[in-house]
Amino acid sequence: MIQFQDVTKTFGVRTAVDKVTFSIDHPQMIGVIGRSGAGKSTLLRMINRLTPATSGQILFKGENILSLKGATMRRWQRDCAMVFQQFNLVPRLDVVTNVMLGRLNGHGTLKSLFNIFSKDDVNSALAALDRLGIAQEATKRAEELSGGQQQRVAIARALMQDPHMVLADEPIASLDPMNAKIVMDALREIHERDNKIVLCNLHTLDTARAYCDRVIGMRDGKIVFDGAPDALSTDVAREIYGADESFNEAATSTAIDNGQSSTQNSAGAMTPAAAAAG
Ligand SMILES: Nc1ncnc2c1ncn2[C@@H]1O[C@H](COP(=O)(O)OP(=O)(O)OP(=O)(O)O)[C@@H](O)[C@H]1O
Ligand SMILES: [Mg+2]
Repeated sequence: MIQFQDVTKTFGVRTAVDKVTFSIDHPQMIGVIGRSGAGKSTLLRMINRLTPATSGQILFKGENILSLKGATMRRWQRDCAMVFQQFNLVPRLDVVTNVMLGRLNGHGTLKSLFNIFSKDDVNSALAALDRLGIAQEATKRAEELSGGQQQRVAIARALMQDPHMVLADEPIASLDPMNAKIVMDALREIHERDNKIVLCNLHTLDTARAYCDRVIGMRDGKIVFDGAPDALSTDVAREIYGADESFNEAATSTAIDNGQSSTQNSAGAMTPAAAAAG
């Protein structure tokens, strides 16, 4: 479906993504892990053309999406919806309008300019919010919602784009464990029910293990692991995170340790029950 060939991004002398080559042959939920600065965000942003690649190709159905321009590029950007750590909603706009903004690229410029949405758009937005369990918040301003609710609005907005794939850049990094679980469950559901590629940057190993079919480990701009979560041994994790013998998976865990009872299982994974309890 999508092939990355020697995709590279340099910022000055710094190589953020270094000749990355891999392919996604069928809809998978993929977690990209690695420590800060490994190149995870840059990789995701190149797919959606938010960051221009320096060299290489990204082929989707045989077409190099890195050379798309104008309307076809915008079309591509709509086809790969982004979800960000900081939600990127318009705070003062109501929730349903925020969701409908996902449709803007699909309308002509004039229609976009005047913010005109059809009744269909409103109904689709409400359906998307309902699917995320927050239809009752539709008329509130986005800024009135909790972080977890705002991220669900952002995912509903992504669904409005009817994308081929969802690219999520640390979607749960600003959330507590319970909301992290709700958001990850929602992304997993989009993958399973809609059969879409979900490519998700995650700071923590445990979440990747719990939710993803495939894990890509990046270090210094390179892919140093690409495989099933089961194949991700502690040694491999050490290599990805560039840690020494003292490396402990708990250090990359999402779960909050309240000092009394651990919210992690033995592998440090955020289990649904543990996350809810946390
Ligand atoms: N706009 C930019 N200008 C200059 N350097 C950048 C820019 N964006 C990223 N970089 C550099 O590229 C490298 C990779 O950054 P990137 O944000 O992709 O890492 P990351 O894995 O997403 O890290 P984090 O986990 O902290 O989000 C880093 O060294 C970073 O400093
Ligand atoms: Mg990042």
